[in-house]
Amino acid sequence: MTNPKKIHLFWLVVSMVIAFPEMPVSAVDLQIGTPAGPQCFGISRGQHFVLGFSDNHDSRSETRELTILVVAFSNRQTSVTISSKYEVAGRPFLESFVIGAGGFRRTVLPAELVMEGTERSLKGIEISASSDVSAYGLMYQDFTTDGFLGIPTNNLGTQYVLVTGPPLSPWRSQFSVIGTEDSTLVQVTLRGRVTFEGEDYDAGDAFRFRVDQLEAVQIQGAPGQDLTGSIVQTNKPVAVFSGNECANNPRSTCDTLTEQLVPIKSWGKKHIYTSARSTDRNNYRIVAYFTETIVTIPGFGNRSLDTGEFWEGDLYGSGSVSSTEPTLMMQQLVNINGEQLDPSLIQVPAVEHFGFIFGFTTPPYFGESSEGVFNFIGIIVKTNARQTVFLNGSPINGTNVIESNVPNTDYTSLTVQLPKGEGFYFVEQTDSQNPLSVIVYGYENDESYGYAAGL
Ligand SMILES: *[C@@H]1O[C@H](CO)[C@@H](O)[C@H](O)[C@H]1NC(C)=O
Ligand SMILES: *[C@@H]1O[C@H](CO)[C@@H](O)[C@H](O)[C@H]1NC(C)=O
Repeated sequence: MTNPKKIHLFWLVVSMVIAFPEMPVSAVDLQIGTPAGPQCFGISRGQHFVLGFSDNHDSRSETRELTILVVAFSNRQTSVTISSKYEVAGRPFLESFVIGAGGFRRTVLPAELVMEGTERSLKGIEISASSDVSAYGLMYQDFTTDGFLGIPTNNLGTQYVLVTGPPLSPWRSQFSVIGTEDSTLVQVTLRGRVTFEGEDYDAGDAFRFRVDQLEAVQIQGAPGQDLTGSIVQTNKPVAVFSGNECANNPRSTCDTLTEQLVPIKSWGKKHIYTSARSTDRNNYRIVAYFTETIVTIPGFGNRSLDTGEFWEGDLYGSGSVSSTEPTLMMQQLVNINGEQLDPSLIQVPAVEHFGFIFGFTTPPYFGESSEGVFNFIGIIVKTNARQTVFLNGSPINGTNVIESNVPNTDYTSLTVQLPKGEGFYFVEQTDSQNPLSVIVYGYENDESYGYAAGL
């Protein structure tokens, strides 16, 4: 089921490519190309990353703290350099360190590296490591915090579909494009209204700009405009971040939302979402790029989506969403055990992203009451391989664990409540036939964060 306006957007993407023949990307090619099958278990570990911190709403910005967490997986030492060309007090940021075997390091960056409003800047942040690492960004600000999982440059793409949370006026939804190479051509096809470099653009319009290596262009929608479904196409790989400076759930305060997006080439056809209890409710958005993508959603049957279209709705507990073409599924944290939370964006791992070892930390104490965030992980594992999952080397059992079958699948959902305060954790699956997924999230008074531990 498509309406004429939706078809129009798809043809606009195609015709923009035809109208600008120097643009060496083609939506048409991507339509025809068969998407890659299951990847070699995950795209989020690597040796080189280009990241950025998206805008947070301004009040209490004096409490802003940017941290990057690097987790090393090598059994030897890993040398890491984090840098940015953007100058703070006349100096670009540069920090180098060594992480011991299987260790981690948290680095605090200058708060000035946050991209502010619609701007072009050199606020891209580069991470280089001598062996594979995972990298996470966490922007803390009183009552408005979120985190994201970094995707290494070798797994970035040239085609993305933006996903934000439902916008809350007067705050803005936003995205940023950060170059990994000089002179990268970027084309954006919009689903919401923006003003960029003095020009106004409406939903359905497309516009283009260039970015250089580590140059970051952040673009905000007009207040309350939803940019979800907008398409970013480039001629060289770029990092794309999207979210909201502040968004809320019904009856919650507003909270910043940020994720680094998985490129279309690494989307998956089967997503398993999870929360601890069958009464826990989350909001989800599923975006499509490929025409006539049929998405099967528990309780909602089949939905047909075209390029840039999305389904949004609430789902309870855990379940499986499958689609005839790859899609991206985004979770917005809403409700845990009857408690209405501030939102946080979490990309739901597709089965194609499942892996065998994940390392992450829970955040240090922060928030209003300063007693720390309630931290959780949600693990999805094949039921017959549940006994071979270990958390910091120990079996996962005990009173801090909630376990259930994912309805209509052969998967089990394990939710583990972790202690408050900063902790360093490894989840490992020793059964080499049965990869799993992990998401990390937490909440406090008027505060929440969340991200996949691996994608
Ligand atoms: C839903 O879509 C799937 C995949 O195309 C198909 O196998 C199934 O029969 C459809 N179900 C209904 C009720 O249309
Ligand atoms: C957890 O599992 C291990 C190994 O199966 C067992 O020895 C231990 O007693 C269990 N702990 C609890 C609290 O059930």
